[in-house]
Amino acid sequence: MRTGIALAFVLQSIVFANVDALYKPCAGCHGVEGEKVANGVSKIINQMSKEEFIASLEGYKNGTYGGNLKALMRGQVMRLSKEDIEALATKITH
Ligand code: HEC
Repeated sequence: MRTGIALAFVLQSIVFANVDALYKPCAGCHGVEGEKVANGVSKIINQMSKEEFIASLEGYKNGTYGGNLKALMRGQVMRLSKEDIEALATKITH
């Protein structure tokens, strides 16, 4: 039991370290805290709800969401897993 808790703790730290690395390429366009309007067109992503954030990234992946620059976002999210997207949403949205 004890080991289980310690292991969960370690895994959580790895996920947290990882999400910063995952968000790094995004910061150039969306701002370090998701506070910018990327390329003059995107929503301010830290003002989106967690659900909206996840739905938009899933939508870019499967081609069901986006505006004129959706191809650009598609390239950013294709490599992300469901877990990655969830972790990014938790980091950026409130
Ligand atoms: C090269 C600039 C650029 C990078 C890098 C980038 N984005 Fe975007 N992002 C945009 C643009 C532009 C849009 C709006 C695209 C559209 O739908 O026309 C957008 C849209 C979004 C949206 C939906 C907001 C809306 O306007 O509907 C989310 C959420 C998002 N990006 C998250 C991310 C995440 C997370 C990453 C990193 C994995 C990332 N972006 C990387 C430019 C970028």
